Amino acid sequence: MRVLICYASTEGQTRKICRFCAEQLIAHGHSVEMLPVAEAGEIALAPFDAAILAGSVHLGRLQAPLSAFAADHALALNRLPTLFLVVSLAIASGEAEDRAELDRIAAEFCAGGGWRPGRILHVAGAFRFSEYDVFRSLAMRWIARRRGQQVDPHQDREYTDWPALAEALAEWAGPGA
Ligand SMILES: Cc1cc2nc3c(=O)[nH]c(=O)nc-3n(C[C@H](O)[C@H](O)[C@H](O)COP(=O)(O)O)c2cc1C
Repeated sequence: MRVLICYASTEGQTRKICRFCAEQLIAHGHSVEMLPVAEAGEIALAPFDAAILAGSVHLGRLQAPLSAFAADHALALNRLPTLFLVVSLAIASGEAEDRAELDRIAAEFCAGGGWRPGRILHVAGAFRFSEYDVFRSLAMRWIARRRGQQVDPHQDREYTDWPALAEALAEWAGPGA
């Protein structure tokens, strides 16, 4: 398969997740074009056999440029096998309430533009204090405290479950993957 991976990443974890997906797919014989949404512009989807869109949740929403891309290409995307990677910290809690909120965020993202992803996968992201400004760092420490999590503001902390992601990706890409 020739797979397009189009992503939006504010602090870099979604980019890292997409790079991992690209490596996995390539290792299984697929070819991959991985593009930040800002560079995807008017890309034609016709040459691709499948597509992955990936974005991260900030203040209850995914990145607007990714939503615009999904809306602009909804018709073509709906003809392909697609996977929507929704990166967040809330999914790491394992709480049903958090999961329901993330499902709502993903559904809202898709409803606006008419894209119907073949599969939606929630992926735990990371605290990236090395990328935050003072305001973000304080906000994230506050969020962590409210959730009863201990975080060291001098250290990034990753929650992404790489083996689970590899498994879900292989399942999506089919027996050849
Ligand atoms: C300012 C800010 C707001 C965030 N808001 C949310 C949120 O509403 N829900 C959530 O689950 N995660 C939230 N996160 C966590 C991000 O989704 C997580 O850090 C993710 O790994 C970011 O991916 P990225 O580095 O690709 O942008 C927030 C992070 C920041 C910095």
